Amino acid sequence: MTNQYPHLAFEIHEQSLSNKVILVTGAGDGIGRTAAITFAQAGAEIILLGKTVNKLEKVHDEILEMGCKQPCILPLDLRGATESDYEGMASTITGQFKRLDGVLFNASVLGNLCPFEQIKASEYEEVMQVNVNSQFLIVKALLPLLRQTALASVAFTTSSVGRSGRAFWGAYSVSKFATEGMMQVLADEHKNSTLRFNCINPGATRTNMRAKAFPAEDPKTLKTADDIMPTYVYLMSDISRGITGQSLDCQFK
Ligand SMILES: NC(=O)c1ccc[n+]([C@@H]2O[C@H](COP(=O)([O-])OP(=O)(O)OC[C@H]3O[C@@H](n4cnc5c(N)ncnc54)[C@H](OP(=O)(O)O)[C@@H]3O)[C@@H](O)[C@H]2O)c1
Repeated sequence: MTNQYPHLAFEIHEQSLSNKVILVTGAGDGIGRTAAITFAQAGAEIILLGKTVNKLEKVHDEILEMGCKQPCILPLDLRGATESDYEGMASTITGQFKRLDGVLFNASVLGNLCPFEQIKASEYEEVMQVNVNSQFLIVKALLPLLRQTALASVAFTTSSVGRSGRAFWGAYSVSKFATEGMMQVLADEHKNSTLRFNCINPGATRTNMRAKAFPAEDPKTLKTADDIMPTYVYLMSDISRGITGQSLDCQFK
């Protein structure tokens, strides 16, 4: 019988991602930080994109200390970045690396959890800007480079509230539905190519965002970011070639 969940059983080794160049957004903290370090340990060259430079520098140094390939830091605040910033980013990546094998869209903000009518327009706009619009502009800028690379993989980060709307999860929930939709449109447009687009749902994971959403919860009851990495490496590795348009869960319900 075939394994229905090969991503959960995936075993990461030090060459799972060798010779790959992977961009990780929100690489300074939480799941993005762990993903950047794990991808580097699996042999990839990592472009660390994030807002807080000293967090990115720490991840950069940690990766170097482990003896992995030197990562590159790309400081960018997704809230204020414009189309021309992303075009500049794409030119820098093209000039420096000449290829891009993977993108992990991980950076997000939660916004305030409250009744819909109490969401401030400015908060709604910020959540949509960081969680959705930036992804649109980054994908647009990077598609020409991704198309030139054999077996490139783009992974977006979703949530259970991006599949089923939940009271009080407001703009965040809407942004994750939009993320699932963006992934599906791109996957369908590229169904005859080797470029693949999927979503990852981390499930409840011990990070600052989870603590903000569930302040009364004991974080020790949650999976850590390290625990959920098999799905992340699986989607970035060539093992998942041909997998596209899917939304994968990192944890069993
Ligand atoms: N943790 C969970 O239980 C859970 C469950 C389902 C889905 N997710 C999703 O998983 C992903 C990672 O979440 P997490 O729990 O690791 O969250 P987190 O700990 O809050 O980390 C979020 C990351 O996004 C970055 N970021 C936020 N605003 C940014 C901006 N304007 N520009 C650039 N980077 C920005 C942060 O950078 P700074 O630290 O510099 O602000 C940080 O690196 C998110 O997409 C989240 O929606 C998480």
